[in-house]
Amino acid sequence: MSYEDIFNLSGKSIILTGATGYLGKFFANALLEFGADLAILDLKDKELSELCSNLKSKFSNQINSYVCDITNENSVEITIKKILNDFKKIDVLINNAQGNDILKPIEEITLSDWRKTTSVNEEGLFLVSKFVGNIMSKQSHGGSIIQISSIYGILGPDHRIYNNSLLNNRKMGSTAAYSFSKAGIIGLTKYLSTYWAENNIRVNAITPGGIESNQNKEFKINYSNRVPLNRMGKPDEIIGALIFLASNASSYITGQNIIIDGGLSAW
Ligand SMILES: NC(=O)c1ccc[n+]([C@@H]2O[C@H](COP(=O)([O-])OP(=O)(O)OC[C@H]3O[C@@H](n4cnc5c(N)ncnc54)[C@H](O)[C@@H]3O)[C@@H](O)[C@H]2O)c1
Repeated sequence: MSYEDIFNLSGKSIILTGATGYLGKFFANALLEFGADLAILDLKDKELSELCSNLKSKFSNQINSYVCDITNENSVEITIKKILNDFKKIDVLINNAQGNDILKPIEEITLSDWRKTTSVNEEGLFLVSKFVGNIMSKQSHGGSIIQISSIYGILGPDHRIYNNSLLNNRKMGSTAAYSFSKAGIIGLTKYLSTYWAENNIRVNAITPGGIESNQNKEFKINYSNRVPLNRMGKPDEIIGALIFLASNASSYITGQNIIIDGGLSAW
């Protein structure tokens, strides 16, 4: 094997959940650029078909889109079967979808609020992992599963920086259900990595820190002040780890969590 090609994804069939989201679009473009065939999956029908035609106008790789609510077991099972039928194999799964966070003080959070986050981040991620892992375990070459966690799965938020914070001109914050689910993802990653190791399925997590988007200036300054590299991350800065874990370059890596946080967790 030429080392030049170790990051090449040509011939790999990859599923990306939450594809129409902020990071999902960057991930989709990068995976296609590295040669993958791509199944994009999301809840949002219109956004998904727009993304699909945009990607098809730029890339000649196989690209199919699937509307699926990952909290619905039946819908996940049918969708994954369809993807297998369309692509004939599944080499990589990227569990990137996330549910809505309900911004209320924790004392006022109801169980139904809590489940808006955890049903997607935990249960949905589990369901997609289960059906895809079952397929990968029957493939002689196994596969790679990449779970997208968050810095708040490993660190508590500094609630003080959220006081006057806005995202898209709406109040932003970080919730307990988000921290709970993102921490659980890292535990599940470790569990699945040892469970499916004998089937040559690698399971790893990526833990991004705060990524710059449409937050207000005050939040960006307050967040950046806490980061050794003194700034928020950029979506492009997650791509290296994503391609690495999807490709043969990481063939001996499983059960790990790659933290991309500008050093925030190093203090
Ligand atoms: N943006 C950041 O700063 C940041 C930081 C750390 C971690 N992350 C993680 O990265 C991932 C992507 O983040 P983002 O900012 O792009 O999120 P986003 O909210 O922009 O996108 C999430 C996507 O998931 C989809 N989705 C929601 N519920 C679904 C369901 N039931 N079935 C299928 N799809 C569903 C949404 O439609 C949306 O397209 C998330 O897992 C998030 O926790 C993001």
